[in-house]
Amino acid sequence: MNAPWKPGAGGRDPFAAFICDETALDTLRPVVIEMGWQPEKCAKGGLRNAVQSLSVSASPNILMVDLSESGDPLNDINALAEVCEPGTVVVAIGQVNDVRLYRDLLASGIHDYLLKPLSAGQLRDALTHAQAVFAAPKASDPDAAKRHISTAVVGTRGGVGASTLATSLAWLFSADHKLPTALLDLDVHFGTGALALDLEPGRGLTDAIDNPSRIDGLFIERAMIRANDNLAILSAEAPINSPLMTDGSAFVQLEEEFRHAFEMTVIDLPRNMLINFPHLLADVNVVVLATEMTLASARDTIRILSWLKTNAAHAQPLIVANKVQAGIAEISKADFEASIERKIDFTVPYDLKAAANAAKLGQTFADANRASKASTAIRQLAESVIGASDEDAGDSPAGKKSLLGSFDFKSLLAKKDKAAARADA
Ligand SMILES: Nc1ncnc2c1ncn2[C@@H]1O[C@H](COP(=O)(O)OP(=O)(O)O)[C@@H](O)[C@H]1O
Ligand SMILES: [Mg+2]
Repeated sequence: MNAPWKPGAGGRDPFAAFICDETALDTLRPVVIEMGWQPEKCAKGGLRNAVQSLSVSASPNILMVDLSESGDPLNDINALAEVCEPGTVVVAIGQVNDVRLYRDLLASGIHDYLLKPLSAGQLRDALTHAQAVFAAPKASDPDAAKRHISTAVVGTRGGVGASTLATSLAWLFSADHKLPTALLDLDVHFGTGALALDLEPGRGLTDAIDNPSRIDGLFIERAMIRANDNLAILSAEAPINSPLMTDGSAFVQLEEEFRHAFEMTVIDLPRNMLINFPHLLADVNVVVLATEMTLASARDTIRILSWLKTNAAHAQPLIVANKVQAGIAEISKADFEASIERKIDFTVPYDLKAAANAAKLGQTFADANRASKASTAIRQLAESVIGASDEDAGDSPAGKKSLLGSFDFKSLLAKKDKAAARADA
């Protein structure tokens, strides 16, 4: 491929920077010259100047922005997304050393985040890498696109049916939609992912937790248990006589590997894991929140939704009311929706016979009971997960609304795209 970062194509500059202080500019300019770019493109200013400038001119291929003077970097980055053309690779710099901010920035589509004070070596590495990413085939190329949708299923309380939904979704993705799917059961001690499919969990997940450094493509291939041609699961019945020793890095590593090896990831994510390892949601596209129509579940739906807003704003929540029985709910649907201040997305009826049938057959709920109303609702949920994230994955309307055409769009940006497209229409 000839160098696409050379000026010319589409009139876009190869590089532009908006930097708040002279010291950083002095470090940056020589590196920019080394890269063959114009040092005049390193402007004094921060994120706001970048937004102003890009709203009236074409976006560069690689954009460096200084967040140091931004009070609310994540929010301002979204403003940047609105004026930035697809495909631009954004490298942020700043002085806040905070892993959460770092992850949130990456989740919102930023390519990299560099901490001040800057060094020439660090800048060289980051810009070379950004250049490689820009030159690589874009995800918006239908041929090159390898989309991946990661779904976390969380129950507001134990027993609401989160694992039932997680295993059913994984089955539907893999068997009905023929999508290569990984099911990661993070109920490490009491998981039912393998049990629901009548399989032995094996030692894979336990090994991964014990030796996160061993996790790679080969490990995944060996450690996962096959449930059908397209479904592999990682589950454990970890011993209950000693506490789990992990900082969560194994789980993040696994998610990363799944992203390469599969098209769908389903994570059965117990809510305590959410609290202990919030970064598990950094790359999750959809959160299925399973709930029952009870007072306690309403309260915890509110709390978890608010947690998601703060900690995983990029993930799209879908609320699934499970085990719903007409007329005998602790709270009515209307009251439940009023208290959580939004609609329930899917309602799955209570169906004891279907649950018993699934257990008897050693099949997932949705697979064992094709004709039941409950399974129909779960199939609709599966389609919605696939559909919702389809929009995230890159076919955004033409125009300059989305950041980074080369990355999975996060739902926040995709929603903005849709709103803008509607406004344009
Ligand atoms: N719609 C339903 N109707 C009847 N029983 C259900 C339904 N959904 C789940 N169950 C049953 O409820 C029990 C708890 O489900 P599970 O998925 O393990 O919950 P969780 O993972 O949220 O703790 C299981 O025995 C399951 O078969
Ligand atoms: Mg469970």
